[in-house]
Amino acid sequence: MTDVAAAPADAAIRYARVLPASELRDGELIPVEIDGRPVVLVRHAGAFYAVQNNCSHKDFPLSEAGFDPRDEVLVCAWHGGCFDLRTGEAIVPPATEPVEIFPVRVSADGWVEIGLTGSLAR
Ligand code: FES
Repeated sequence: MTDVAAAPADAAIRYARVLPASELRDGELIPVEIDGRPVVLVRHAGAFYAVQNNCSHKDFPLSEAGFDPRDEVLVCAWHGGCFDLRTGEAIVPPATEPVEIFPVRVSADGWVEIGLTGSLAR
């Protein structure tokens, strides 16, 4: 599913193609895998966000979370911990540790690409 592409705008970061941008509607989230690592991709207000797909509390997949577009938070479906979509910060307990976020861009030919930073760079 992943097709690693070089990043012309930021040569320091490599990007992986995950899906055509047209396949995700605003307010939707979808689980993807980058080299076996689970990531949840979210489209909100026309922009894309990528977050590790494991809640920092008890590892529940955040792809099954609710998304509150007013507060821009992912709400874990297991115990209700909330995470800021833009920063990964845990903002509602029982989650207290942040989740990892990754850069996202849309290529000229309309594909969503996730930056291979942090745990995805390994
Ligand atoms: S597993 Fe997500 S809040 Fe507990």
